[in-house]
Amino acid sequence: MKNYKISIIKGDGIGPEVIGATEKVISAVEEKFSLHFEKIFIEAGLEAFKKYGTNLPNFSLEMIKQSECLLKGPTTSLEGEGTELGVPVKIRKIFDLYANLRPLRSLPRVKSLYNNVDLLIVRENTEGMYSGLEYKINEGVYIGIRVATEKGARRIINKAFEQARVRRKKITLGHKSNVLKMTDGLYKQVFEDISKKYSDVEAKEEHIDALAMKLVMKPQDYDVIVLENLYGDIISDLAAGLVGSLGMAPSANIGETFAMFEPVHGSAPDIAGKNIANPIATILSFSMCLEWIGEKEASQAVNRAVINSLEKGNKLTVDLGGSATTYEMAESIAKEIISINV
Ligand code: NAD
Ligand code: IPM
Ligand code: MN
Repeated sequence: MKNYKISIIKGDGIGPEVIGATEKVISAVEEKFSLHFEKIFIEAGLEAFKKYGTNLPNFSLEMIKQSECLLKGPTTSLEGEGTELGVPVKIRKIFDLYANLRPLRSLPRVKSLYNNVDLLIVRENTEGMYSGLEYKINEGVYIGIRVATEKGARRIINKAFEQARVRRKKITLGHKSNVLKMTDGLYKQVFEDISKKYSDVEAKEEHIDALAMKLVMKPQDYDVIVLENLYGDIISDLAAGLVGSLGMAPSANIGETFAMFEPVHGSAPDIAGKNIANPIATILSFSMCLEWIGEKEASQAVNRAVINSLEKGNKLTVDLGGSATTYEMAESIAKEIISINV
């Protein structure tokens, strides 16, 4: 039996609910594929901040380092001058998880504007406006520093082209180099340069504002979209809306040797504690984790189980127009895993 050490941050708000639900899927995968996940639970987020004065204590970080990968529930961010960066932002930087892969796909019975969306947002995860370099100049005057490096641009754009090559071979860079002439200009220049190496991939670049409009009007025209950090953040929530719910959007934060898997959504305080959050984004994030550790068959089984369960349509959460609880939906997916033919 193969053993994997996985660290888990339950998170805040709906975090413990969507992670608790995903644990049912983890158990089903263990049973079906003779795997064992040694779970290391990590304190991080708002609750950790209240207890220890920081959202990511050193001992938590050391425990994460002992594991092979991290499954993370959403954590509530502190806001206001002088507060710490959010947990995901810290972890992305500390582990240099430069590539944030966010697949958005239309799934059966999920009502949305379109039923044939299949996008992959490749978000740069370590630079841009997320540098944490913000300063007060004078009363009422602040500056924030946007970092763009050639190394950062090259590695994320290369990663995006690699992804496009194994998908529908189309890639779009979103930028604003008509205004941000140096920082976005660099991304545009690197994109043009790298596109020469991938003559089999259809590459185009668009201003991010126009791209946002076209994405809403004709999402089928896009395959891989590569974006710097903040554009990637905003456009991925927009694209989650195109596939029916933030509860359907998973992500993988990937570096050279470590990776973190988390839903795109946040801690959703408006629905926390009600057992109504959609767990699919977290379950599909776990599927991306399985793929990353090399358990491809198990990963595909989780994806297939989500589709089968949705097709039956009997256990849908409120955001999908149903009345099932978070745990009921996860149980239905876990059952599908057990009964799948492999
Ligand atoms: P949010 O993503 O938590 O919620 C936005 C809307 O989507 C809300 O109406 C919410 O109810 C709904 N929603 C989110 N997830 C859902 C799910 N699984 N099922 C059904 N509906 C769902 O965004 P927000 O309100 O802007 O942020 C709340 C907190 O979460 C903030 O502190 C923010 O910083 C944090 N956040 C954390 C992460 C993370 O840890 N990776 C990501 C995004 C936001
Ligand atoms: C996300 C989140 C984070 C981000 C927040 C919570 C810091 O919105 O993962 O998309 O902005 O990256
Ligand atoms: Mn976001």
